[in-house]
Amino acid sequence: MMGPFLCLWTATFFVMSQECPEPCTCVEKKYGRQLAECAYRDLQGVPTGLPSNVTTLTLSANKITSLQQSSFLEVTQVQSLWLAHNEICAIEEGTFARLLHLKNIDLSNNQLADFPWGDLYNLSTLQLLKMNNNQLVKLPWEAFHTLKDLRSLWINDNKFTTIAQGTFDAMSSLSQLQIYNNPFNCTCRLLWLKSWAENTLISIPKRDSISCAAPESLRGVPLGRIPDLQCTPPSVQLTCHPNLDNTVLYDGLTLMLHCSVTGSPQPEIRWEIQTPIQGTEINGPNVERDKNDLSTGGSKHSAERFLVYGNGTLVIPHLSKHEEGTYTCLATNEVGTRKVSVNVALANSENPAEDLLRNNLATSKLGAKHCNKEAQANSSQAGEKLVIIYRVPAGMGSSDGGTLLESRLWACMFCLVVFLYC
Ligand SMILES: *[C@@H]1O[C@H](CO)[C@@H](O)[C@H](O)[C@H]1NC(C)=O
Ligand SMILES: *[C@@H]1O[C@H](CO)[C@@H](O)[C@H](O)[C@H]1NC(C)=O
Ligand SMILES: *[C@@H]1O[C@H](CO)[C@@H](O)[C@H](O)[C@H]1NC(C)=O
Ligand SMILES: *[C@@H]1O[C@H](CO)[C@@H](O)[C@H](O)[C@H]1NC(C)=O
Ligand SMILES: *[C@@H]1O[C@H](CO)[C@@H](O)[C@H](O)[C@H]1NC(C)=O
Repeated sequence: MMGPFLCLWTATFFVMSQECPEPCTCVEKKYGRQLAECAYRDLQGVPTGLPSNVTTLTLSANKITSLQQSSFLEVTQVQSLWLAHNEICAIEEGTFARLLHLKNIDLSNNQLADFPWGDLYNLSTLQLLKMNNNQLVKLPWEAFHTLKDLRSLWINDNKFTTIAQGTFDAMSSLSQLQIYNNPFNCTCRLLWLKSWAENTLISIPKRDSISCAAPESLRGVPLGRIPDLQCTPPSVQLTCHPNLDNTVLYDGLTLMLHCSVTGSPQPEIRWEIQTPIQGTEINGPNVERDKNDLSTGGSKHSAERFLVYGNGTLVIPHLSKHEEGTYTCLATNEVGTRKVSVNVALANSENPAEDLLRNNLATSKLGAKHCNKEAQANSSQAGEKLVIIYRVPAGMGSSDGGTLLESRLWACMFCLVVFLYC
């Protein structure tokens, strides 16, 4: 009679020792659930040798410092992963991406400053996500966009300074959201959260602790009580100087493009210049106001060709074939970006200059045809403005008519102003 018992005992022991790693206890639960209990064991890493059918893995209150792609490869059926109260400061990308059955993750009370947010993309069955009490700083706005089943999201007690509008929009099952105790920067960018929180049915606890850490004037003020901020997106107008409406210009053409912007907060201006040979970006002024000195920004080469002032003016001191191209002024503030482009083109010397001269310059349509067909074709489109200037060789328009007459360069410039909304 001892035979079968001994055999069973041996089999059970074999299964236990083979399938459950030494620091853990594996317990079979109802409804096909398999629990691996490894909490409070001073573990420094995820143990290996876990049964492959584990559905709940408890690793809370250990001394785990990092998680790797390989950490959970053995337990791809896992539905609940409890990792709170460890010392996790690094999680390798891909660690969670293959755990397609995950319903609950608790990573609270760790040292995370960053997280492989892309891993959440695959976890469409997730219902509970706890990441509170970490050091997280940046939250990509699309981080939760596939989490249709998520009910509770805890990201309180982190270092988030802002949350992008739309971050919570895709979580149609969300019923609890904890975001308090983050050092929010209460600028225009965060203003949406105030009204969203007021109107949502989602439970958002401890609202008085959802408060501003910056700016200084709002420090400590709950988000729900901040005053209305002045927030308007940039608007941009680009003008050319000399005023380019069918103007005759003489030698030494200096072209000024002035980008005037409005918006609150005051938008910052950038220029993008695309010539046939190269693209140049100028972030902010490269010349101090009322000076020709170079200070910051742009290479020496580009700075000589393009002078950008703090007041929004870009000067092309010597317009030549090399400066032909598209000039784009971009104005950005927290509320948005808007850009305006100008196409600058010079007619080459083969152009029938005489024809142009014989016509009344103020009414001639001929010039436009000869100079740039493409620009003309687009001029009928809505929101565009076509401005043409003609440049005649020095002497032809003046009484002098002397030595500079050989200059056969006729300039024709189009300001094709296209308003683009970003
Ligand atoms: C999990 O695996 C162990 C060992 O292979 C087995 O004894 C147990 O029945 C399995 N449990 C489930 C729920 O499949
Ligand atoms: C999502 O899961 C599939 C397998 O189901 C895997 O091939 C893919 O790499 C996963 N996505 C990411 C971002 O890891
Ligand atoms: C808050 O945001 C503004 C605007 O983006 C920025 O200039 C400022 O440095 C931020 N302050 C802090 C403390 O992050
Ligand atoms: C901007 O500053 C430059 C240099 O001082 C000046 O030449 C230009 O006329 C100014 N533009 C406007 C629109 O005031
Ligand atoms: C003119 O419009 C066409 C078609 O819309 C476009 O492909 C082309 O780039 C435009 N040209 C300029 C100079 O904007």
